[in-house]
Amino acid sequence: MSHRILLLGAPGAGKGTQSAKLADEYGVEHVTTGDALRANKEMETEYGTPKSFMDAGELVPDPVVNEIVEAALDDADGFVLDGYPRNLEQAEYLSEITDLDAVILLDVDEEVLVDRLTGRRVCDDCGANYHVDFQPPEEAGVCDECGGELIQREDDTEETARERLQVFYDNTEPVVDHFRDEGVLVEVDGEATPDEVFARIRDVVES
Ligand code: AP5
Repeated sequence: MSHRILLLGAPGAGKGTQSAKLADEYGVEHVTTGDALRANKEMETEYGTPKSFMDAGELVPDPVVNEIVEAALDDADGFVLDGYPRNLEQAEYLSEITDLDAVILLDVDEEVLVDRLTGRRVCDDCGANYHVDFQPPEEAGVCDECGGELIQREDDTEETARERLQVFYDNTEPVVDHFRDEGVLVEVDGEATPDEVFARIRDVVES
C-alpha cells in the first residue's frame, strides 16, 4: 500500500530524522523542502536566492516552494512530506494537488528544540544528520556513512534558531490548528530516542 504522510513540527522536532526512516520503511519518497532548497540555495528567482531567506531564518516565498513540492509529488508514488506546508497559503495549495493519509505533529518543548538545533551536525557530502550529544558520530567530525566532513548548518546558530521558531509560531501553528480543526491531526510526543519516536509514529500510520 502506498502512503501519503505529512509530518509537521517545529524546527528541530525531528521531522528530517523521522521522515527518512519512514520513507525507508514504507518504500516511498522523502519529499523535504528544506533539503531541496539547500540544494538550490544560489538559484536566482524573481524574489532573490533561497539562501537570502534561509540564512535569516525566514520563509522562502510561496511560489518558489510550491513549484518544488508540486514537481516532487507529481513524480512520487507515495511520500513522506517534511517542511511543507509552513503557512495557510501553502496548506491550501497542497490540498489542491494531493490527498493525505496521515497528518502527524511531532511535539517537542522549545528549549529541547534549541539544544537539538545548535548541536546538530550534517554531513557535507551525503547530508546525514548527527547531534554532538544525542546522536554523535563514531569519530568526531566524520560521517559514519560516507566519511564526509560534518558541518554546522548556517541557520543553526542560537539566534537564527530562535528566529526560525518564531516564524514557526507565527506562520505554521495556524496550519497545525487547521488540521486539528479538521480532525485529522495526530500528535506524537517527540521527546524520546529517535527509535522510540519512530515506533510511536509507525503505530499511528498503521492504526
Ligand atoms: P528545514 O530544513 O525544513 O528546517 P526546519 O523545519 O527548521 O527543520 P529542521 O531541519 O531544522 O529540523 P527537523 O525537524 O527536520 O529536525 P532533525 O530531524 O534535523 O528548513 C530550513 C529553511 O528552509 C527554513 O528556515 C526556510 O527558510 C526554508 N524552507 C523550508 N521549507 C519551506 C517552506 N515550505 N516554505 C518556505 N520556506 C521553507 O533533528 C534536529 C536535531 O535533533 C538533529 O541533530 C538530530 O540528530 C537531533 N534529533 C532528532 N530527533 C531526536 C531525538 N528523538 N532525540 C534527540 N535528538 C534528536
